[in-house]
Amino acid sequence: MTLIECKNLTRTYRKAGRSGAEVTPLREMNLNVDQGSFLALMGPSGSGKTTLLNMLAGIDRPTGGELWISGMNIADLSRAALADWRAKSIGYIFQLYNLVPVLTAYENVELPLLLHKLTRAERHERVCTALDLVGLSDRHDHYPRQLSGGQEQRVAIARAIVTDPDIIVADEPTGDLDKAGAVAIMNLLCRLNSEMGKTLIMVTHDPKCADYANQTLHLEKGKLVEAEMLNEDEVIVVHDDEVEICRCEICDCDPCECAPGETEGQA
Ligand SMILES: Nc1ncnc2c1ncn2[C@@H]1O[C@H](COP(=O)(O)OP(=O)(O)OP(=O)(O)O)[C@@H](O)[C@H]1O
Ligand SMILES: [Mg+2]
Repeated sequence: MTLIECKNLTRTYRKAGRSGAEVTPLREMNLNVDQGSFLALMGPSGSGKTTLLNMLAGIDRPTGGELWISGMNIADLSRAALADWRAKSIGYIFQLYNLVPVLTAYENVELPLLLHKLTRAERHERVCTALDLVGLSDRHDHYPRQLSGGQEQRVAIARAIVTDPDIIVADEPTGDLDKAGAVAIMNLLCRLNSEMGKTLIMVTHDPKCADYANQTLHLEKGKLVEAEMLNEDEVIVVHDDEVEICRCEICDCDPCECAPGETEGQA
């Protein structure tokens, strides 16, 4: 079932300054995303990947075309309705983790729940579940500066999933991580997709990370230039226990040299 439909989606910005020149990072893009799919977006820097994610997440609005999500044209929603829809439906894992430095891991994850009508006890249960899912139940009271890059990214993922959104968008979620850290994050994202049914749209520069998705699209100057569908039997199977997983497609060692627990330790 189609969840997201972009019809001639266009975003034009006017450049700051007196020139008033325009830049159009997205040009008449047509794209359908099925519910429950895992889509990877690749393309050179400046090709419009983050711009597209921001449209899909309702952070920014198109200046042309239509964007239908769950049967609603996002461009038709009022500002308040868009914010409400975004809070319920979207989990955003930002290009830089965007954690609030003066808040603990727990408080960072709790933040999006403050927009929802939940009791303190309900919030507590959800935050604990999300931090548990990303393997950080022992880091509740740590501030971002007291966490490794991989752990910060996992807090960012917990924050994105704590509201139980249907759609998760991730902007280069492994960009700052080493290979083992990337493996841990990719396995986590795969679990969100395959076990929890989240529709996942991920921007990456790393073809090995894109291999985890079941569809990869390439952006070039704001247009889709190539689409590649994997056969069903090529879709990657994810194991249950993230720590013991070896994904040699990522770590490049054959036979695998990643000892169980190593991924966790380095992340
Ligand atoms: N708010 C804005 N105002 C003006 N121009 C913008 C704005 N946001 C993005 N752009 C321009 O749109 C183009 C695409 O930017 P975008 O951030 O989508 O690229 P990207 O593909 O995500 O690149 P990267 O891989 O480096 O993150 C760039 O030329 C950028 O300068
Ligand atoms: Mg970007």
